[in-house]
Amino acid sequence: MFDYQAPEQHLKNRVILVTGAGDGIGRVAAINYAAQGATVILLGRTPEKLDHVYDEIEAKGYPQPAIVPLNLESATEHDYIELANTLSQEFDQLDGILHNASLLGVRTPLESYDPVIWNQVMQVNVTAPFMLTQALLPLLNNAEDASVIFTSSGVGRKGRAYWGAYAVSKFATEGMMETLADELDNTSNIRVNCINPGATRTQMRATAYPGEDPATLPTPQDIMPVYLYLMGADSKDCNGQSLNAQ
Ligand SMILES: NC(=O)c1ccc[n+]([C@@H]2O[C@H](COP(=O)([O-])OP(=O)(O)OC[C@H]3O[C@@H](n4cnc5c(N)ncnc54)[C@H](OP(=O)(O)O)[C@@H]3O)[C@@H](O)[C@H]2O)c1
Repeated sequence: MFDYQAPEQHLKNRVILVTGAGDGIGRVAAINYAAQGATVILLGRTPEKLDHVYDEIEAKGYPQPAIVPLNLESATEHDYIELANTLSQEFDQLDGILHNASLLGVRTPLESYDPVIWNQVMQVNVTAPFMLTQALLPLLNNAEDASVIFTSSGVGRKGRAYWGAYAVSKFATEGMMETLADELDNTSNIRVNCINPGATRTQMRATAYPGEDPATLPTPQDIMPVYLYLMGADSKDCNGQSLNAQ
């Protein structure tokens, strides 16, 4: 899977929403999905970054994307319902969601972890993907085969000191993926899986490991095969799995 080669245009005519599409892994995934023929919905909190990704996709001649500026930390149920209504006016179906946006929070012992930061991390990393998925399930149900991908982490499988709310949120992400995958298994056309990107050259990684030389790490582009595999029809029978991108 690490060297999965997507058949040309294997996401043609698919509509795929990517959260945190303005930077890092989400940005590169959105561009790769568009390159494969998908209409990509770019969701993020910094409009300028989304505009850049939009321009890059347009300049390359890929299908015209859409932009959804939304701060997942403050978004309410009403915002998600509004989003679902807007998307259903534009599109007949939604073929995929990549839940990629996350907050790192602080690296500190739980003993002194700031509850305000705890709530922010939980909101962006766990509650937002839950509410977004819930609101968009009817549109996902309209697709022939739909893929929901959550983004996990190594610290979401084995707890590690000082990773605080981030680690706990990634355990919750794995749990949410397994719960939803089991609920939808055999009863729907929606598959639900997790990707653990592994150490990747992004701003989040640089913040977590300031002493590390980023040049030693794989780039987001290097880890795309698993992202392409899980979003396309080749992974139709893959449900409830937590895959490593490296
Ligand atoms: N990089 C790694 O080594 C690594 C390892 C394991 C797991 N992961 C996971 O991979 C995913 C992508 O990480 P990354 O390294 O690409 O991180 P990143 O470079 O920090 O990008 C995160 C993206 O999430 C967006 N975001 C953050 N808070 C948001 C909010 N409140 N509302 C909307 N969007 C928000 C950011 O938007 P702005 O740019 O506007 O701030 C950014 O586009 C995350 O789920 C992360 O936990 C990464």
